[in-house]
Amino acid sequence: MALVRLSLLTVLLAGAALADDERAHVNYMLHCQGCHLPEAQGFEGKVPPMKDFAGYFLHSGEGREFLIRVPGVAQSALNDGELAELMNWLLVTFSAEQLPDRYVPFTGDEVASLRQDPVIDPATSRELILNRLSADIPVLAAERQQKN
Ligand code: HEC
Repeated sequence: MALVRLSLLTVLLAGAALADDERAHVNYMLHCQGCHLPEAQGFEGKVPPMKDFAGYFLHSGEGREFLIRVPGVAQSALNDGELAELMNWLLVTFSAEQLPDRYVPFTGDEVASLRQDPVIDPATSRELILNRLSADIPVLAAERQQKN
């Protein structure tokens, strides 16, 4: 009997996880995809790619904060919990390889406090943060060198 209950619980949990992912994906399509495109590839020179990239930001505290304080996220119509869910989905879906080994997902409370303080000049903040991260992440440094 205990076993039956356990497997029922597993099914329920799996179902819940799927629903969260689907909701995150739908929210991405409705609120972000218009600018960031379906695969989060962005537009060269206009919208930075999150695909195979956004995970790098989680290697530093300021990078982690930047992902939420960037205007498109901070000022989104989505609520804190929806945004945390969407960002966690996005990072794992589009940039799992770039995430640090000990990746800690965002919580709604964390999003709530970070979004109160949006970055004023995202391009400059981004450069500063990525320059500092490049010192610790050789692949990122190489990628950035290639672009320049
Ligand atoms: C109106 C177009 C637009 C929409 C809608 C939009 N973004 Fe953005 N996003 C941008 C632009 C442009 C940038 C570059 C920084 C800036 O100018 O704000 C950016 C930057 C970002 C960054 C920083 C990435 C980096 O590498 O610097 C993240 C993360 C991000 N957006 C996530 C989102 C999410 C999540 C949503 C949906 C909730 C969203 N954006 C909606 C246009 C948009």
